[in-house]
Amino acid sequence: MTVRIVIGAQYGDEAKGKITDYLAADARYVVRTGGGPNAGHSIRLTQASVVLHQLSVGVLRRGVTGISGPGMVVQPMRVLDEMRELEEKKLLLGELVISDRAHVLLPIHEVEDAWEDALRARQDPARGIGTTGRGIGPAYADRYGRWGIRYGELSHLDTLRARLDMLYERKRLVPGLPPRAELESSLLDAGERLSPYIRDVDPMLFGALERGEPILLEGAQSALLDIDFGTYPFVTSSHPTSAGALVGAGLPPQCVTEVIGVAKAYATRVGAGPFLTRAEAEEEAYLQRVGGERGATTGRARACGWLDLVLLRYVARLNGLTSLAITKVDVLGGLESVPVCTAYVGSDGTRWTDRPPTAIDDYAGLTPVYERRPGWPEFHPRLAERIRREGARALPAELQEFLAFVEKETGVSVDYVSYGAHRDETVRRTSRAGHRRPTPISRWAK
Ligand code: IMP
Repeated sequence: MTVRIVIGAQYGDEAKGKITDYLAADARYVVRTGGGPNAGHSIRLTQASVVLHQLSVGVLRRGVTGISGPGMVVQPMRVLDEMRELEEKKLLLGELVISDRAHVLLPIHEVEDAWEDALRARQDPARGIGTTGRGIGPAYADRYGRWGIRYGELSHLDTLRARLDMLYERKRLVPGLPPRAELESSLLDAGERLSPYIRDVDPMLFGALERGEPILLEGAQSALLDIDFGTYPFVTSSHPTSAGALVGAGLPPQCVTEVIGVAKAYATRVGAGPFLTRAEAEEEAYLQRVGGERGATTGRARACGWLDLVLLRYVARLNGLTSLAITKVDVLGGLESVPVCTAYVGSDGTRWTDRPPTAIDDYAGLTPVYERRPGWPEFHPRLAERIRREGARALPAELQEFLAFVEKETGVSVDYVSYGAHRDETVRRTSRAGHRRPTPISRWAK
């Protein structure tokens, strides 16, 4: 039995999609466990590139079932567009399933999201979250308020109509909602077209567990955007942690065999919220340009900075990481040295080493402490070719040393390294640290 969980270990956009796609080669089922069209998992294949928002990367592989899982909020019209694009590009190769427990994210949630975020920003520009505008917060609010519509209910006309009546009544103060009749008819149409894909995934996944078939849980967003353990309120409305992935798939904790946290060799953040290791303007512009740091969903430029080990230690502990995948190491190639944040110091001299403050106001006055690590050479095509041929031992020595430093500082082995956007440009690495279990609690109990 293998159940692997992939989660974002920073603020999202760590190239989780690419790592999940790499690991999907060994999976039978790949399940997206939370979020919805706020995600953008970019995959670059030889024949085409694609950005998946609501479908699991499992649908890109023959013999794999890609499930949009129970914990998700899925916008039906957008998912139909995504399916059409994949079909046109001839990339819909796996089986596609949408859980009957996933919630229907409606166009009215998108209108409400924009209205609410504008309301926050109008009260105080510093309080706007800068959401993706895809309706995530309102869709989860309706889910937990028990106003929502589930995919399994799209074919139950009376329930659907009654639920829409309630939703329109409840949201009557929200300006600019689409006419109810129009929404109902497009929803019925989408529901009918999606009906062949809507399934109860519970028997599939438990059957897989019984047969020992490998399952991969594909996290979206990131642990630091978790509604409870992220930088609240500058977070998303789901639980993008390993525990959240289990809830979002409907699987029990003892089945988990591996939890892989994905982190870039530097850091980025999109939307508002604290970002202590944000770089100076010139360095940020460099990272944005070389790293192509623009949102795959919104096109917004991402704020860029340096790897933050305080946060990475926190994420490792919170999620029980068994390994790390470090991505975009090629972006830093050619730099003389690479700053890494090892601690924060508060204005009263307190050192923060393995967790950020809970209250957002307590970030003020914290200063990151950096250690500069030796840089590694540029990733020219010959080097990439050598790594493809010889594996991880061909990674530059300075980069190996950087990865060993990350392992030493986090207690988690770096088992995967991604050095380019293409599907092939990921290498499995046998860690010298050799940790294969969640970081022991004793390590944190100082
Ligand atoms: P929401 O998920 O659209 O409500 O956005 C809440 C916050 O999470 C905003 O700061 C977004 O920019 C951020 N966010 C949501 N999804 C992603 C993602 O997939 N990558 C990076 N940031 C995200």
